[in-house]
Amino acid sequence: MHGTKLRITSLSQPQQLGAAMGGGADVHAHRPARPAPRHAKLKMLFVVIVTNFFSVYLFSGASLSLNLPESAPSIHLWDSTALLRDLNATRDALSLARAELSLVRAQCGTSSLLLDSVLSKLGAVHGEDAPAAKDFNGWPEEPSGELKLAIEPHRLPHGFSVNFGTDELFPGLGFACRNFQEDLTKYMTYNASAACPDDEALALQLTLKGCEPLPRRRCKPRSPARYVEPKPLPESLWSIPADTTVNWTPYTCKNYTCLVDRARSRGGSYDCKDCFDLAGKERRRWLTDNGGPGFSIDGVLRSRPPGTVRIGLDIGGGTGTFAARMRERNVTVVTTTLDLDAPFNRFVASRGLLPLQLSLAQRLPFADGVLDIVHSMKVLSNSVPDAVLEFALFDVYRVLRPGGVFWLDHFFCLGTQLNATYVPIIDRVGFRRLRWKESRKLDLGAERNEWYISALLEKPMT
Ligand SMILES: *[C@@H]1O[C@H](CO)[C@@H](O)[C@H](O)[C@H]1NC(C)=O
Ligand SMILES: *[C@@H]1O[C@H](CO)[C@@H](O)[C@H](O)[C@H]1NC(C)=O
Ligand SMILES: *[C@@H]1O[C@H](CO)[C@@H](O)[C@H](O)[C@H]1NC(C)=O
Ligand SMILES: *[C@@H]1O[C@H](CO)[C@@H](O)[C@H](O)[C@H]1NC(C)=O
Ligand SMILES: *[C@@H]1O[C@H](CO)[C@@H](O)[C@H](O)[C@H]1NC(C)=O
Repeated sequence: MHGTKLRITSLSQPQQLGAAMGGGADVHAHRPARPAPRHAKLKMLFVVIVTNFFSVYLFSGASLSLNLPESAPSIHLWDSTALLRDLNATRDALSLARAELSLVRAQCGTSSLLLDSVLSKLGAVHGEDAPAAKDFNGWPEEPSGELKLAIEPHRLPHGFSVNFGTDELFPGLGFACRNFQEDLTKYMTYNASAACPDDEALALQLTLKGCEPLPRRRCKPRSPARYVEPKPLPESLWSIPADTTVNWTPYTCKNYTCLVDRARSRGGSYDCKDCFDLAGKERRRWLTDNGGPGFSIDGVLRSRPPGTVRIGLDIGGGTGTFAARMRERNVTVVTTTLDLDAPFNRFVASRGLLPLQLSLAQRLPFADGVLDIVHSMKVLSNSVPDAVLEFALFDVYRVLRPGGVFWLDHFFCLGTQLNATYVPIIDRVGFRRLRWKESRKLDLGAERNEWYISALLEKPMT
């Protein structure tokens, strides 16, 4: 995809691509809205400090070093030889002082040049001395219209700023959105309160590039024609939705038969390729412990005190089967999934499970220490840049409650990377290992020294 060096054969969940492509984006930073006055103040402060520094230098440090030698002026008017000696000494001292003074002058000159250059650089950075390089708060072009309204700060009603700690409310918007203003402007071009353009693909592309979250819109996405309501629970857990939820979408497959068939008929070129086949492989996942990297859900739940695993998150959960199995065990699991080449979110939802459209690059939208379990299968792997991976692992640790568990399921990498790179990254986070299994990938990768790590990791109680 788009020239990214991803091992498509190893991908089985859509988020891998999403994470890798969205990786590295700083999705939370906001730049201050009106920098000019603050920078002007900063500059003034700088000038005052520097000026004071020179005064102190000249009138204390410098004048100390200009003190005439102790031996010099005790004038002996009655003794011409002594007088001459004194005069000589005084003259010497004076010339010494002159030399020192000129040295100080030279230093002052250098400092002043330095100050000038610093100030001019400061000005250039903020576009004050170079009006050509305009800065629209980080945007290449001045945002306008609906985009401007959606991204600019809005003044809080009187009296509310105390709670917020600010007078203005900024929208939550991916920092990387500024890098794709042309696409974003297209995305924000619609008639307010009318129907949205059919641009799901554009929205996903922006998300994958790190423009996440997207700005809000004031238009209404089209509902599919002949919409069929989902089946009731628990039947919905294993039911394929009506084709009307997919036949109008931008994806290649316009019906679920196609989504299931493509997994059977084609090679491994699709994300989560077995995911839609609820009667096939998907139905058998996590039911048995295979003695290797495949742990069973019941085995994992048995390792915790009964009933203490109640709420959790499945990162990159494809069509939601992990959440479905957990639901059958009365555990509520939110599934993050991206609609990459198939309607994963609507599929999960139609099963009666909670989908969350979120890439691996984004901070998990949960408070610290709240979840009993986090699971992730094949999404976290060597296709994710190391830094993104490390941030994601620490974020998992953050949202788990003390005693909560992280089930790292089939983490994929090469044998050479396993101990050299990934075990240290995982260990650095500070989980306690409850189960740990390294095993060589036996299917396609047998001769390629490809490995899986599966682990059950506990967030320590203290
Ligand atoms: C004063 O300095 C002159 C030349 O610099 C020297 O000839 C003379 O001897 C000095 N006198 C005394 C008293 O040091
Ligand atoms: C907005 O509405 C006008 C008038 O109905 C229409 O011509 C135009 O194409 C619409 N623009 C978009 C982006 O839908
Ligand atoms: C499903 O879609 C495929 C390709 O998009 C098409 O060839 C096939 O006829 C469709 N099947 C049904 C039952 O609509
Ligand atoms: C789930 O909860 C229901 C209702 O409380 C209960 O009847 C059922 O036995 C529970 N299932 C499991 C697997 O614990
Ligand atoms: C990684 O290190 C462990 C412990 O040192 C060792 O047993 C294992 O064989 C190593 N694995 C690989 C794939 O090199």
